[in-house]
Amino acid sequence: MSTGKVYIFDTTLRDGEQVPGCKLNTKEKLELALKLEDLGVDIIEAGFPISSPGDFESVSQIAKNIKHATVCGLSRAVQKDIETAAEALKYAARPRIHTGIGTSDYHIKSKFNSTQDDILQRAIQCVKWARNFTNDVEFYAEDAGRTDNVYLAKVIEAVIKAGATTVNIPDTTGYCLPYQYGEKIAYLVNHVPNIDKAVISCHCHNDLGLATANSITGVIAGARQIECTINGLGERAGNTSLEEVVMIIRQHKHLGFHTDIKTEQLNPLSRNVSDTMRMPVQPNKAIVGSNAFSHSSGIHQDGFLKNALTYEIINPEEVGADSSKIVLTARSGRSALAYRFQKLGFQFDRNDIDQLYNNFLSVADRKKEVEDTDLTIMAQQYQTTTATA
Ligand code: KIV
Ligand code: ZN
Repeated sequence: MSTGKVYIFDTTLRDGEQVPGCKLNTKEKLELALKLEDLGVDIIEAGFPISSPGDFESVSQIAKNIKHATVCGLSRAVQKDIETAAEALKYAARPRIHTGIGTSDYHIKSKFNSTQDDILQRAIQCVKWARNFTNDVEFYAEDAGRTDNVYLAKVIEAVIKAGATTVNIPDTTGYCLPYQYGEKIAYLVNHVPNIDKAVISCHCHNDLGLATANSITGVIAGARQIECTINGLGERAGNTSLEEVVMIIRQHKHLGFHTDIKTEQLNPLSRNVSDTMRMPVQPNKAIVGSNAFSHSSGIHQDGFLKNALTYEIINPEEVGADSSKIVLTARSGRSALAYRFQKLGFQFDRNDIDQLYNNFLSVADRKKEVEDTDLTIMAQQYQTTTATA
């Protein structure tokens, strides 16, 4: 907890790949894993090896081919799962087994028909099994977001004693408010006597749109690993977006954190994941949406053209996005119109633009967006009229 480095644990190939329609074959998974390693993620969760022979093969291919990042395989608190994960990871340069069990009353009573004491013992046991295969064991307390803090602290202390080196505190259902999630992490920092022997990890789902806020609050409270996915893919409403947490940490340097992500690869990789997983990115998605650097209203366009920083906190180049766009709609103003004519090679003075503006508005009211072809026609007609007048 002493350093400001935040470990980026990418689970696009596991939690992200659980999304209906996003399933990948081994070749696709390996290609993305190599790109994730290039991006600079610290840990790649490659899959859930016991879940299918195909996923076992994917995890083992990734384990063989990834040289620098840690490769992680998921398992339940079941001996066979853990052995299978260990087998899939056996050629990894840095293998991690991610094992765990549900700790909230919903899980203990409804899913396992069990008791807190029994779940505590199973948690200790699964970590011990995993430690037979690797020194890098991450324990997840599923639904920690809705788990009583006193019991959660007891489980976390016990699993660290059993050998867990990372403790994952998932808000599995995306239920927590940021202050509640932050208080949960702070509670563990202050009440688990051996917490300094493990890295605390945030794994937040987005059911209320709070995954990113919760992860950042968790880090501020003492966590040093964020589990996240490219484009925020993941079960139901998704997981924490890698690009968002990385850019928040970069933009708010005063917080004192950093990651090793090469941010200029964020947009190309986002497109790659979207294409490979056949899952379009919403246009207004932060950092990687097609509108993330588009300006369309007159007031914004005028400010942006005078000084980009007026309406942009990130330089698109920094995240590998196309340059900022001035989009022409019926809400656009004269400065934007003049700018777009200029980009097409037409030099008009203020008086010309005043004359052209009404014509522009009538086209803009008919179309959602005025494009270069419309502008060219408008400019040529105007030049012809003024030449013959
Ligand atoms: O959301 C969750 O709790 C998970 C665990 C398996 C880590 O994905
Ligand atoms: Zn999850």
